[in-house]
Amino acid sequence: MGGINVIEIEIVPDHESASARVAGFIVEQIRRKPASVLGLATGGTPERTYELLVEKVDAGHLSFSQATTFNLDEYVGLRPDHPQSYHAYMRSRLFGATDFDAERTHLPKGTADELSDAGGQYEALIAEAGGIDLQLLGLGANGHIGFNEPGATEGSRTRVVDLTEETIAANSRFFDSPEDVPRRALTMGIATILEAREIVLIATGESKAEAVERALRGPVTPQMPASFLQQHPSVTFVLDEAAASLLDKRA
Ligand code: F6R
Repeated sequence: MGGINVIEIEIVPDHESASARVAGFIVEQIRRKPASVLGLATGGTPERTYELLVEKVDAGHLSFSQATTFNLDEYVGLRPDHPQSYHAYMRSRLFGATDFDAERTHLPKGTADELSDAGGQYEALIAEAGGIDLQLLGLGANGHIGFNEPGATEGSRTRVVDLTEETIAANSRFFDSPEDVPRRALTMGIATILEAREIVLIATGESKAEAVERALRGPVTPQMPASFLQQHPSVTFVLDEAAASLLDKRA
């Protein structure tokens, strides 16, 4: 298996302990380097992680005042003040509830006039900030990371992508009706994600078990975008028992 790195796997009993573990990674990173550049995810899975971080800031145990952030993705066409935009998600769950400097929190601009330029500009901002120290990822049931759907290539960069029907259906739970879910998004690419110095992926629940197993044990292939993480030297999967249930526990 020349060139393939071993992904660290931490299996904890439930979503609560997975959230606490992932919050711990972020706390440690900020303690080590207060001016860290964090890559952040949205979705249902990290919600509890963000609540735990807010609690730590409230209690005076943590400060994000020097940190910089780059989110993975944003829907095309949703303004930052749209309640289902990822801008709004991050503002209400983390940025607005803690001491982040709004000037240093970034998400792709899904309403940019020139969407074709927006990706390159986002990549330039990440590079200017010195690259991402710690990237947090969730996992789609179809194996997507960010919105890199099956078929995404290893060299992909921040760009506009079409969402699959499966992703639109999964995300419709956050909208009034499935027709309201945007069909396109701007997302960091696989290459962008793999440039982060360290990556932590959180996956919980049975619906993620198959993707977890294929990402960790299957071949590295664009059909399973998360499998590209096997090529990164410093990745940890934090899983609850349900998400780990199809792994045969052998290293
Ligand atoms: C969100 C993102 C997506 C989600 C994935 C899982 O910023 O990049 O890849 O992490 O769709 O979503 P949940 O956590 O809602 O199951």
